[in-house]
Amino acid sequence: MTAVIELDLGDSHADITDHDVYTQGVPHATFLRLRTESPVSFTEEQDGRGFWSITRYDDVLYVSRSTNLFSSAKGIRLEDMDDEETEARRTIMELDPPAHSRYRRLVSRPFSPRAVADYESSVRELAREVLEDVRGETSFDFVSRVARQLPMRMLGTLLGLPEQDLDWLVDRGDALIGNTDADFTDYVVDQVDTSDYRLLPFRSPVALELFEYAEGAMAARRTHPTDDVLTSLLQPTVDGDLLGDEQLKNFFTLMVAAGNDTTRYSMAAGMKTLADRPTLLDSLRADPAAIRVAIDEMLRWSSTTMHFRRTATQDVELRDQTIRAGDKVVVWYVSANFDAEQFDEPFGFDATRTPNDHVAFGLHSPHLCLGAHLARLEMRVLFEELLPLLDSVRVTRSERLRSNFISGFKRLEVEATWR
Ligand code: HEM
Repeated sequence: MTAVIELDLGDSHADITDHDVYTQGVPHATFLRLRTESPVSFTEEQDGRGFWSITRYDDVLYVSRSTNLFSSAKGIRLEDMDDEETEARRTIMELDPPAHSRYRRLVSRPFSPRAVADYESSVRELAREVLEDVRGETSFDFVSRVARQLPMRMLGTLLGLPEQDLDWLVDRGDALIGNTDADFTDYVVDQVDTSDYRLLPFRSPVALELFEYAEGAMAARRTHPTDDVLTSLLQPTVDGDLLGDEQLKNFFTLMVAAGNDTTRYSMAAGMKTLADRPTLLDSLRADPAAIRVAIDEMLRWSSTTMHFRRTATQDVELRDQTIRAGDKVVVWYVSANFDAEQFDEPFGFDATRTPNDHVAFGLHSPHLCLGAHLARLEMRVLFEELLPLLDSVRVTRSERLRSNFISGFKRLEVEATWR
């Protein structure tokens, strides 16, 4: 049994598919029980054919790496999709090697460690701007005023998009990622009939607006190339490969959706860990070099992307269970990140944890988050800029997203005193 427990572990028999469960926090006690008693277990679904839950760290790595046995090509969300839906909604995420590797080469350059290192001064400038807007206020929502702002403005800078479009775009990204939360969309997938939109990402008509915007942005760059990431995505690779129009639209939508909310929620979770630990806040302020390591613990702790799904390509034996060809297999990153076999005192927040091989970005798999370096940079720079300004901070109210997919605070009201 672990000694340090700094989290509310919640219910040990929660329905892990139930979006409402997560509004109260991640049911860590349920995942702990599954890791201990039944690490590969079959989870029934009310509106689906059920899936295998993989909850231990080693097994999550095994499934993620074995792309020949566990494919992404038939969908990466819990949702059951027919072939037509799968085909229409395919992005880089729903590809297996070698097609995935080719696509990834086309889009990876602007997200490489070297490219991202060059963005640091832009990120810092934007972080200062965002913090200047809120500095001095004693009570505000950290999510909308800070955590939403930096990833959104950085995306605008990278993609070369006009500032006045950014709120509109990010609202649309929120409607996709938050498609189970009525605060973000009128088309809550488990509450209204979305069958008319079944061929669109996240079964949402909002995707059409993003597609249309993407088409306009691409057309403008075809006539007037610039030095932004969108222009670079229009260029062929050294092998002469080129992204098609559908792929470009889908990739744009993915960047707006996947690149914003996840970073925002991870920042908000990071802020909450510091607000809850004033001595840690003091020590990081005194030693800013330690922020880099602390960021990875924030990422493990928040495990913003809680799961992704694969589909078994053949019968596979795993921990005495037989997974049949065609079965849905869900890798629970949020469970792996709290596995005591991998992390000492997993339920304790250790800002100095090294090594910290968390799977918040889907470690060691071909689908390792493309935006990982960028997200880490944005989080580090935000806290490097924020901590010297902040004297104290206290969370007065928080509200979580209704989602079994993304874990995060959609509101984090804080009271702050400034230096
Ligand atoms: C803290 C923030 C983030 C988290 C927690 C996160 C999480 C993840 C995870 C877990 C995956 C693996 C998907 C899988 O296993 O199938 C992934 C993939 C991906 N992420 Fe992120 N992400 C974040 C930020 C970003 C950003 C900033 C961008 C882009 C601007 C981005 C773009 C992508 C893309 C394109 C993929 C697909 C990669 C592939 O299939 O090869 N992400 N992300």
